[in-house]
Amino acid sequence: MKLFTLPDRKEVEPGAVHAPVMDMHKIDPFYDELFKGLRAKIEYKIDMVDLRVLAVSSAIAGEGKTLTAINLAANMASTGRKKVLLLDLDFRKPSVGKMLSFPKGPGISDYLWGTVPKEEIIRKATMPGLFVIPVGKTNSSPADTLAGEKFRSFLQGLRSQFDLVIIDTPPVLPVPDAVTISEQVDAFIMLFRLSYTPHHLFRKALEEIGERKIMGVVLNGEEKKSDKYYSRYYGHYYKKVAQ
Ligand SMILES: Nc1ncnc2c1ncn2[C@@H]1O[C@H](COP(=O)(O)OP(=O)(O)O)[C@@H](O)[C@H]1O
Ligand SMILES: [Mg+2]
Repeated sequence: MKLFTLPDRKEVEPGAVHAPVMDMHKIDPFYDELFKGLRAKIEYKIDMVDLRVLAVSSAIAGEGKTLTAINLAANMASTGRKKVLLLDLDFRKPSVGKMLSFPKGPGISDYLWGTVPKEEIIRKATMPGLFVIPVGKTNSSPADTLAGEKFRSFLQGLRSQFDLVIIDTPPVLPVPDAVTISEQVDAFIMLFRLSYTPHHLFRKALEEIGERKIMGVVLNGEEKKSDKYYSRYYGHYYKKVAQ
């Protein structure tokens, strides 16, 4: 089921400022190069079976979901082949808007719980072909709303408006949101942060989502024992790419 390995940025360039996407025209070259690989693997699969809504999730917080969702969406849009929407559904810890330095404004919560129309929450990113829906106002109990009809038809509408919708979700184990939307999502990409996430929690998260729905796993970071291997075979290459 393994799809892709994302090495730890800090280990490759000690002391580097960690900014995955400075703005949508200037993706960090380190991530850009890496996510091209993931994009190629995913693009092949989604075109074969016409998958339109992909969720990025993991067992616990801090595994790299948002980082992966943003870079994957930007990389998919950068080919010009797909109109891509990045949807932040992490109501508890919304970070897509922040990571992209978007000015504050209405988001999905203002549409679902408020009266803001759909057209006003879809923001255009600076990169052509990429659109973003941030969370907007935070809400502490979104699971019921995500199970409701308004969200269902909203997502259905996005399917006809975009070629690909990438959803940044909250972690699977602490809150029910990711499992709640799983029926409406075509496939999940799961993150597993090496030397960080307990294995039994990762397995539990896979069970909760159900293997049938999981397209693959992104291994984020490196297991200590493999450091030597990576620096010998890839370290030099990654350094070059990151310059
Ligand atoms: N491969 C990586 N290299 C360096 N920093 C990383 C890597 N993956 C994640 N991080 C950092 O770890 C923190 C958590 O990542 P984030 O994508 O916000 O996780 P999540 O959305 O799963 O909570 C962020 O500061 C992020 O920049
Ligand atoms: Mg996140």
